[in-house]
Amino acid sequence: HLPLDELIAALSVDVLDFPAPGIVFRDLTPVFADGPAFRRVVEGLASAAAADPRAAALASSGDGAHAGFDVVVGVEARGFLLAAAVALDAGVGVVPVRKAGKLPRERVSASYDLEYGSATLELHTDSITPGQRVLVVDDVLATGGTLAAAIGLVEELGGVVTAVSVIAELVDLGGRQVIAPHTVHALWTT
Ligand code: PRP
Ligand code: HPA
Repeated sequence: HLPLDELIAALSVDVLDFPAPGIVFRDLTPVFADGPAFRRVVEGLASAAAADPRAAALASSGDGAHAGFDVVVGVEARGFLLAAAVALDAGVGVVPVRKAGKLPRERVSASYDLEYGSATLELHTDSITPGQRVLVVDDVLATGGTLAAAIGLVEELGGVVTAVSVIAELVDLGGRQVIAPHTVHALWTT
């Protein structure tokens, strides 16, 4: 069968001028909708964490079922689809990073700029415990603002981000540099 990056490329659809003029939007919904592709994507996202040396170093202090992470953080909204699947497959829990105003209890917040606008993300204060190994997942790395904010929230609560995984990295937008020193594992770079 096709290499995973070629499969994602073949299934994704470029949409011109969405959600604003001048933006070429890579629509990944057909990747989610394809059962075999979705399974390979979920497995690929999880595989990034096992390679992180900090994951192994911290493993003895954690009680997670997965070798590389104790919990999966997903970023609203498309990251939720991925994080839940990765967590279920790995036998660990899933924690949502949400857009402002959605989480009911004590929370930490971070504002950031998007390719098309700005937003605020939030995380429940008690959803990450200090030293917990965290895999952060989302569908797309564009300018990097979203993932940088999500990583910052996890670290503010003492979580150790052992891996960051996305389906697609839009290389020209420079998100990888924004996430540094964290490294992003992208299943498809375009
Ligand atoms: C998209 C995408 C990522 C983010 C990437 O989400 O799902 O979360 O933008 O952009 P960045 O790297 O420039 O920050 P969006 O904010 O459009 O929200 P949605 O998932 O609710 O559609
Ligand atoms: N596709 C999907 N999600 C995105 C994009 C894109 O081109 N840019 C920012 N988020």
